[in-house]
Amino acid sequence: MLDQIQQLLQQIAETEIANTEQAEQFRLQYLSRKGLLNDLFEQFKTVPNDQKKAVGQQLNVLKQAAQAKWEGSQAATQHVATPSQFDFSIPSAQTLAGSHHPLSIVQRDIVQIFERIGFHVAEGPEIEDDWHVFSGLNFPPEHPARDMQDTFFVQTHPDFLLRTHTSSVQVREMEKHQPPIRIVMPGRVYRNEAISARAHCQFHQIEGLFIDEKVSFADMKATLLYFVQAFFGKAEIRLRPSYFPFTEPSAELDVYWGLNSEADHRITKGTGWLEIMGCGMVDPNVLAASGIDPEKYSGFAFGMGIERIAMLRYQIDDLRHFFENDVRFLAPFKGLF
Ligand code: PHE
Repeated sequence: MLDQIQQLLQQIAETEIANTEQAEQFRLQYLSRKGLLNDLFEQFKTVPNDQKKAVGQQLNVLKQAAQAKWEGSQAATQHVATPSQFDFSIPSAQTLAGSHHPLSIVQRDIVQIFERIGFHVAEGPEIEDDWHVFSGLNFPPEHPARDMQDTFFVQTHPDFLLRTHTSSVQVREMEKHQPPIRIVMPGRVYRNEAISARAHCQFHQIEGLFIDEKVSFADMKATLLYFVQAFFGKAEIRLRPSYFPFTEPSAELDVYWGLNSEADHRITKGTGWLEIMGCGMVDPNVLAASGIDPEKYSGFAFGMGIERIAMLRYQIDDLRHFFENDVRFLAPFKGLF
């Protein structure tokens, strides 16, 4: 029996346990109720008394060796894999990191450019009343511009509506503060439009307002040229006469985009010029309606669509991409914020 024990001791020492299956096999073979060790303890009962001491000692050594081996295998297989079990060439699991939305990136960049020259951010509500969206901005009650903008009204409260432009925030700010006022007002606006590649029932604008003593049309032109140069890196602008009820005179601002590529030809319809915003000198009626003295103060305002600016910057050809949140569209904007 001593020989048998010696043999098993050696066998245990040579056994390699590399995984949980082998560990379980080992346990069954040696340590379970029907395992070798129990067999030996059964046999031990028949060992002659004078040999019991020696055999018993060896049997205990064997039992401890088997147990130690199994316990060691548990620690090894459950907690620490040996280096040979790793394949360092396998690519790691992909982690899906989020990105800022291109509209957020563009809005942030526009805001920062104006902050550098002393503008602050102001915001207002998306559900507005007639006064802040229309009447306070010099739209007469039956003015066609009210329809022009295809307004969503709140059915039960006809005085309430979803703002059709961020110009409403101008009125709120002029009511709250006396000049100097130097603010940019980003936000979401709504118009009752069919959704297409070029139009949507909700989009974003950023509005600007500068009111102080002796603010002139030349100040507006210089400010907007500075913006165009900082944002697009384009050097030339032109102002075309236009009409808005709340500015007089009013203008549309075009950027000289160039005609260097086929895309330039396409997006500028062969002219090289692109319209990017509306602007003008704040109408004295608008100043007066909000409690600012038009004899003392003058100012300019401008407003642009953030989607349009983002489409130009990133050469996106369909407005709907901005609202679908498809990760394949969003992923390239990672790290741009
Ligand atoms: N509110 C105008 C629009 O939505 C844009 C604008 C803002 C024009 C400020 C002039 C001055 O089209």
